[in-house]
Amino acid sequence: MKSYRVAILGATGAVGQEMLRVLEQRNFPVETLLPLASSRSAGAAVTFRGQQIPVVETCESAFAGVDIVLGAAENAVALAWAPAIARAGAVFIDNSSAFRMDPQVPLVVAEVNPEDIQGHKGIISNPNCTTIITLTAVHALNAISPIRNMVVSSYQAVSGAGAGGPVELLAQTEALSKGQDYPPKVFSYPIAYNVIPQIGSEQEYGYTSEEMKLHYEGRKILHRPDLAVSCTCVRVPVLRSHSVSVRLGFDHPVSVAQARAAIENAPGCKLVDDLQAQQYPMPLDTSGQDLVYVGRIRQDIVDGCCLNLWCCGDQLRKGAATNAVQIAELLVG
Ligand SMILES: NC(=O)c1ccc[n+]([C@@H]2O[C@H](COP(=O)([O-])OP(=O)(O)OC[C@H]3O[C@@H](n4cnc5c(N)ncnc54)[C@H](OP(=O)(O)O)[C@@H]3O)[C@@H](O)[C@H]2O)c1
Repeated sequence: MKSYRVAILGATGAVGQEMLRVLEQRNFPVETLLPLASSRSAGAAVTFRGQQIPVVETCESAFAGVDIVLGAAENAVALAWAPAIARAGAVFIDNSSAFRMDPQVPLVVAEVNPEDIQGHKGIISNPNCTTIITLTAVHALNAISPIRNMVVSSYQAVSGAGAGGPVELLAQTEALSKGQDYPPKVFSYPIAYNVIPQIGSEQEYGYTSEEMKLHYEGRKILHRPDLAVSCTCVRVPVLRSHSVSVRLGFDHPVSVAQARAAIENAPGCKLVDDLQAQQYPMPLDTSGQDLVYVGRIRQDIVDGCCLNLWCCGDQLRKGAATNAVQIAELLVG
């Protein structure tokens, strides 16, 4: 079996660390693993397959001989190094939003539109984490009856803001519980004992950049330029796994039984839906694994052509690292 030289751009961050685990757990055929980060990580090492591998400061020559670069850094870093990655002849599977809406760049959820990686020109984008989790959950329902629109509220974990998010939540919770002050640094307001109804910057119509990602990326992934998505994204004091409340408007009514059967058979999904038994998706249950849990499926009381559901997924795994490695598997497979 052929094996590949894989670099992780941002190997010391929240997504990069998860990529190391996912590559190992899925037994991706890695010949050599190159962890790249900034000068801040000089002297650091990452663990891969039981070995300590020194982190390398990112530079043009680092990409020489690399086959696949998994991007786990912010937009500016992805934009800065994409030309060097292309010159080295490597394929760049990027988690930032820098290239997602570029018509030349496939935007892929492995269970939804794997065929889109064909014809890539060196860059394949991983969608936004809330977008991946939501579309993995609703894709099977779209096959029963086309989804006209979605009204979404997300409850997003602090690790979605990077490795600094959980550090701030834990330290701030402890400080505030002792009556001490803990000024926020990662978030704009205290996240301990709070929820913050803004993720990203202000964009059109009073929505934020995070909210518009689901709107635009959903259209591209589902090949549905007419899809309308109205989203409210909220940061909550949860360490890991995003939760999403979705109201789906269909062309034709879809019954709860039909929806449950479809979710039960949908790749990447697990049906957890028994209100009487108090069984529903929750972030503590979905953390550290790859399935998107779907439950609370019910007909909408206002509009019979709509269904409501609640889904949870680990945004560092299926929402980032796992989907990126699945794309790499599609690429080499
Ligand atoms: N967190 C999530 O749940 C999530 C989900 C989906 C997508 N994403 C996206 O994935 C990307 C990474 O997010 P994250 O949460 O993992 O962030 P993070 O924890 O802050 O990690 C950022 C990584 O980028 C590296 N980096 C920063 N500046 C660099 C530079 N100039 N050159 C090379 N490397 C540099 C950092 O290295 P140092 O340690 O040396 O600073 C670190 O390894 C972002 O684009 C984010 O939007 C995140």
